[in-house]
Amino acid sequence: MKNDEILSQITDFCRRSDMAETTFGRRAVNDGKLVHRLREGKRITIDTLDRINGFIATSTPGGVAPPRGLVVPPEKRDPRGNFRFFENRQRYLLFVHTCSEKRVIADRVSLELAAIHPRPPALRVFDAGMGDGTVLARVLRAMHGRFPHMPFYVAGKELSLEDVRLTLDKVPDRLFEHPASVFVFTNMYYAEAPC
Ligand SMILES: C[S@@+](CC[C@H](N)C(=O)[O-])C[C@H]1O[C@@H](n2cnc3c(N)ncnc32)[C@H](O)[C@@H]1O
Repeated sequence: MKNDEILSQITDFCRRSDMAETTFGRRAVNDGKLVHRLREGKRITIDTLDRINGFIATSTPGGVAPPRGLVVPPEKRDPRGNFRFFENRQRYLLFVHTCSEKRVIADRVSLELAAIHPRPPALRVFDAGMGDGTVLARVLRAMHGRFPHMPFYVAGKELSLEDVRLTLDKVPDRLFEHPASVFVFTNMYYAEAPC
C-alpha cells in the first residue's frame, strides 16, 4: 500500500470521527507525528500498517480488526533494488522450503546448549519470530537430548497466524517427548511484554 492510500484512509477516518490527525497517530501507534511523516514520504513497517488498520477497524462502528499477519504485506521496496526476501512471504517460503537453512540454524543453535547450565525451575527459551516452528521443534529435540529431566518454559512470538497454526501442529510431539514443558505463543508487541 502506498503512502497516499494510507493517508487517504487516515484522513477519511479522522474526518468521519472528528479526530485530529495527531490524536490519530498517538492513539493508533503512539506517534503523534505519524501523519506528518507519511506526508513527507517516510516509510512505515508492516507492523505499523497493521496497527493503523487495526485501530481504524476497531474504532469504526461494526468494524473488526484485521488479524495481524494476515493483512497482505505491502511491497515496500523497489523489487529491483535492495530486496529483503523475508519481507515477501511467497519468496521467503520458496527459499526456506528449497534449502536446508532451518536445519542448519537449528544445528547451530543446538551447539550453544553445551555452553549453558540451566538451573531450576526450568530452562527458558524465547523464540522471537518462531515462524512455523521448524527451528524451535528441532532445538527442543536437542534440548531434550541434553537436559532430559529439566522442565522447559518456551515463549514464542509470531505475527503470522498461519505460522502459529503450523507451530501448534508440531508442539504435541515435543510434549510427548518432554512432558515437563510449558509453551506460550503470543503476538503481543515486544514493548508490551513483561520483563
Ligand atoms: C526468518 S523467519 C523465522 C523462521 C522460524 N525460525 C522457523 O523455524 O520457521 C522470521 C519470522 O519472524 C516473524 N516476524 C517478523 N517480525 C515479527 C514481529 N515483529 N513479531 C513477531 N514475529 C515476527 C515472521 O513472520 C517470520 O515467521
